[in-house]
Amino acid sequence: MKYKTKNVLSLILGLVALQAAAQSISPGHTWNDTNGSSINAHGGCVVYADGYYYWFGEQRSTNKSDGISCYRSPNLYSWTKLSRAVTPTGTQTDENRDIASGRTLERPKVIYNAKTGKWVMWIHWENGNDYGQAKVAVCTADKPEGPYKLSDVFRPNGCDSRDQTLFLDSDGQAYHIYSTNMNSNTNCERLSDDFLTPTEGYAVQLKGRRYEAAAIFKVGELYWGVFSGCTGWDPNPGRFMWTYDLMNETWQAPADFRASDGSTGINFCVDNGKNNSYQSQSNYVFPVPGRDKCFIYMGDRWNSSNIQSSKHIWLPLSVRSGYPTVRWYDSWDLSVFDEMYRMKRMKEPVDGAEVYLLEKYSNRLVSRPKASLTLENDGNSNTCFILHKTDKPYVYKIENKEMGLYMESVYETTRWQAPADRESQEWRLWLEEDGYYRIENVADGACLSVSGNTTEAGTTIYLSAANTSVHQSFGLYFDSQVHADYEEADMFSKAYRIRNREQMQEEALVVSVKNVKGDTSDAQVYEMGTGRKAERHRLSRGTYVKVRNGHARKFVVK
Ligand code: GAL
Repeated sequence: MKYKTKNVLSLILGLVALQAAAQSISPGHTWNDTNGSSINAHGGCVVYADGYYYWFGEQRSTNKSDGISCYRSPNLYSWTKLSRAVTPTGTQTDENRDIASGRTLERPKVIYNAKTGKWVMWIHWENGNDYGQAKVAVCTADKPEGPYKLSDVFRPNGCDSRDQTLFLDSDGQAYHIYSTNMNSNTNCERLSDDFLTPTEGYAVQLKGRRYEAAAIFKVGELYWGVFSGCTGWDPNPGRFMWTYDLMNETWQAPADFRASDGSTGINFCVDNGKNNSYQSQSNYVFPVPGRDKCFIYMGDRWNSSNIQSSKHIWLPLSVRSGYPTVRWYDSWDLSVFDEMYRMKRMKEPVDGAEVYLLEKYSNRLVSRPKASLTLENDGNSNTCFILHKTDKPYVYKIENKEMGLYMESVYETTRWQAPADRESQEWRLWLEEDGYYRIENVADGACLSVSGNTTEAGTTIYLSAANTSVHQSFGLYFDSQVHADYEEADMFSKAYRIRNREQMQEEALVVSVKNVKGDTSDAQVYEMGTGRKAERHRLSRGTYVKVRNGHARKFVVK
């Protein structure tokens, strides 16, 4: 009888535990492990191996560093604490080449080396008194969960290395990316074949930007970095940059954008709370295995008076817009990824195409739920538009599918009218290098534009003069479940941008030189007065230009 009761009890307990097992992620709330203790893994990363996810992080005892913890999960929601991946061991040495108790170990990053069959962890290492050493500790293990043994503690390529991360490329090459030069710059260096040391030489990137908390990921041929600014434990606006080549090219932001706080770069957060990255600092971007272009932004909501209790901010990260965006969710699960890429970027505008207009920096669609246009999430009403080609190059009429009415600029506000033969119903699509368009009215030059800094759902879209806002770029998207036949742009390839650039130059020439007699195929267009080559910047209507193909001529861009 006694035995039976025990059995029933453990069954009930088991069921309760099953029911309590997390099925979702609630950023900012206490996240308990399967033992009911809050997860003590900060500044870390997640790796996937043989059906399990492993979450590594700074284990803290209140504020003190207490090695590197490791948790395992079959589903990314419920985590079981394993033995510590790195246990402080040995005694502190004057050479500072130890991981003895009392040392500060931060931002552990783990990658697998297929050549040596070892798991390799790089950690930001400090002596425990201050942040003056700025070194890395490199450890290795035979199994993902460890135990990890110290290989060495050093300054990579002799440089100070504070916030740091690793990136393992698809070709097996690994990189170490770290804030350096007292956090002014970000260095990138290739790792040796065994991933235990950097190879000689490094690229100095993001000069003077003072970024830290780097998390690197790749889509197609593009490498992305999300970063924070440098405000210690306090959060600040998130930033992203991209490059085609981690070692040889300067990182770029989509626009040379200066925020109101003076920092440069574009924020990857797009909802209320974006000004402090939803009170978080990035630590890693995890590519969800088996789901194309689906990422999890992992951040820390640091509590500087008790780092151990800092909360975890995990949110889905999308690159649908061609750029990383992170929306806020009170609670979410992996199903948010199911329809993340249902809307796809069109290769080019086509007469009669049913399109959705996606605003560049919010990853939200233009909609007309009320009298005015607003940015809205997918699934909102009045988001589908039909493009009608006119006989003018790059000029379209834009019909709202649901209403059957045409967009018109009337006194520089959008109105919806029956189709008419009026220039105020004609819209010039000005291609940008990243495949977006500025949508400019032919009659008055007014452009679709999000004013201000807000990019939340419900934000109003106005008409305003060209280049008066960074939010004047709209991508043409299509519903792939309705139009599987439409052609998708390969927007993460290097060739995509090169082609767009070429087309922009051709457009400028077509628009500019159409009145010039003679062979203009190799004409160079210069702006009058400035002498600048026209290809380097967009010519807008009314600009006076001259063509240099032997003889200079003057004419007006129509
Ligand atoms: C931050 C850094 C954290 C931690 C902290 C200490 O800038 O991102 O990982 O080092 O400083 O103040």
